[in-house]
Amino acid sequence: MRRATFFIVFVLISVLFGASKEIELIKPYGQDIYLTRFAAVVLNLGESGATKVVTKVGEGESIERTIPSDRDFFCFTVELVEGVNKIYVNVYKGDRVLYKAVRTIYRGSMIDKKLKYSTKFFHKQFFHQTEKEKICSKCHNMKMNEQKGVAFENITESNCFGCHYPVTTDKYLHAPATNWLCATSCHTGKSGRFNNRYKGESKYLYPDPIAANCFSCHKKFKEKFYGEKYRHEPVDDGRCNRCHDPHGSDISNKFLRKKVWYLCTTCHTDKKRKGHVVRTFSGKAHPTKGVKDPTSKEGKELTCISCHNPHVSNNGYMLRGYMGSGRMLWCKRCHKK
Ligand code: HEC
Ligand code: HEC
Ligand code: HEC
Ligand code: HEC
Ligand code: HEC
Ligand code: HEC
Ligand code: HEC
Repeated sequence: MRRATFFIVFVLISVLFGASKEIELIKPYGQDIYLTRFAAVVLNLGESGATKVVTKVGEGESIERTIPSDRDFFCFTVELVEGVNKIYVNVYKGDRVLYKAVRTIYRGSMIDKKLKYSTKFFHKQFFHQTEKEKICSKCHNMKMNEQKGVAFENITESNCFGCHYPVTTDKYLHAPATNWLCATSCHTGKSGRFNNRYKGESKYLYPDPIAANCFSCHKKFKEKFYGEKYRHEPVDDGRCNRCHDPHGSDISNKFLRKKVWYLCTTCHTDKKRKGHVVRTFSGKAHPTKGVKDPTSKEGKELTCISCHNPHVSNNGYMLRGYMGSGRMLWCKRCHKK
């Protein structure tokens, strides 16, 4: 009797141990900081014969994926929310759970100071290092195969595409990203003043500030940038990617991270809380949204950039059009009477 119990316990332990030893969640590492919307999940299944994996991100829906037979690796992508993301990964063989893991990662923001994270718990962990790539190159071609300025005839030829394709699934896409000229346009491996501390940690780092790369194609913009008297601080810093997502966007054909008003008030929080300094005759704050912009031929809504240039200006406060001392004259751009 006792022997039998021992035997069962022994079998149980070896089954449990064997299984958990075989299966390994390679990515995400856990405690990473992401700035992107997507994270790759990579499972080493060994010879477990796993048939499906169920994942859940935080309070989101559970998603079930069937693992094709004879797979020793299974890779997929999950979409992250802003802030803390708990990623639950459960691997099954039939109805039996073989493996369970939870990884906590953080999706930060380029603009929102509210999205702070504990630097004790979360930290940047780069992937593209020769040692970490090794295990993937069994199946994926890890080499950079693009030529500067030469678009792929078929973008699936890019070695980056197979793993990073979700990056170009947005509605509006930026030309260099659509053409998958990733490593030659921006991800050159070089760093800049704001990310020198990560120098050499990834093959595909981008220089931060990035402006010089943007200017290499946007020559007219460069002229304007150096030609006008005042620059908006984040623009002056050359950090174009704080406001623009260089890959694309679902909401803006200028690839803004948020709609203009929300973008501006993410940093200028007082303009949301207290309203704008420009007051109407009754002392109320001048509207900054929710009404038509009289200067827009397309009938767009009034917003911050109806009055301000987001980048540079020859006028104080980065106003559009010369104000000088004739304040009321300036107001006449919209108020004809
Ligand atoms: C045993 C082969 C194999 C290994 C090793 C492997 N992968 Fe994959 N990976 C695949 C296959 C095959 C696909 C295509 C999707 C599919 O059919 O499951 C894929 C797709 C992907 C995708 C795209 C997922 C999606 O959303 O469709 C990512 C990201 C990825 N792999 C990352 C990695 C990383 C990172 C490593 C190394 C840590 C790695 N893979 C190791 C076989 C492998
Ligand atoms: C085998 C899949 C795979 C391939 C191929 C691949 N990547 Fe990645 N890449 C990843 C994973 C996984 C991460 C980590 C982020 C994540 O979890 O989604 C990453 C991260 C990055 C990052 C962020 C910095 C870093 O090192 O973590 C950049 C930039 C990047 N990849 C660019 C590229 C470029 C450019 C190519 C093509 C030359 C490429 N990748 C090919 C899987 C891949
Ligand atoms: C490899 C060349 C190249 C680089 C580098 C580049 N762009 Fe572009 N960009 C283009 C092309 C081509 C277009 C589409 C044609 C156009 O509208 O100018 C475009 C369009 C845009 C647009 C939309 C313009 C409009 O009027 O609709 C924005 C915004 C933009 N890019 C911002 C950036 C930012 C920010 C950077 C740097 C992070 C950058 N670009 C880097 C080539 C480039
Ligand atoms: C403070 C946020 C912010 C920063 C930083 C920023 N932009 Fe913009 N950008 C905008 C907004 C807002 C628009 C206008 C969108 C619209 O008209 O709908 C815009 C429009 C553009 C356009 C389209 C043409 C135009 O001039 O309107 C280009 C090109 C562009 N930006 C490039 C850049 C480059 C290059 C940098 C870095 C030197 C940069 N931006 C930095 C907010 C920003
Ligand atoms: C990433 C943060 C950030 C975003 C987004 C941002 N700003 Fe700013 N802005 C600043 C900083 C920093 C300053 C300089 C310090 C200050 O005056 O608050 C500034 C200054 C200004 C000024 C005053 C310039 C002067 O000459 O005194 C105006 C006007 C302005 N921003 C308008 C805008 C508009 C319009 C938008 C949206 C298109 C915007 N900002 C988006 C950070 C931002
Ligand atoms: C880019 C266009 C634009 C500019 C420039 C502009 N306004 Fe306005 N203003 C509007 C719009 C749109 C409204 C709301 C529609 C309306 O009530 O006419 C508005 C409303 C007002 C109102 C309230 C009118 C009412 O009946 O409640 C006052 C007062 C006003 N603006 C004063 C000014 C002053 C002063 C300036 C110059 C510092 C100025 N505006 C510059 C577009 C503009
Ligand atoms: C109707 C035109 C108009 C609109 C719309 C507008 N501004 Fe202004 N803004 C001005 C003028 C004019 C000034 C100069 C201050 C003055 O003369 O009272 C100014 C000044 C500023 C300043 C510098 C002074 C300060 O209070 O910090 C900032 C920052 C600013 N605006 C941000 C914004 C943001 C963000 C939005 C959108 C939420 C916006 N503005 C919408 C006209 C406008």
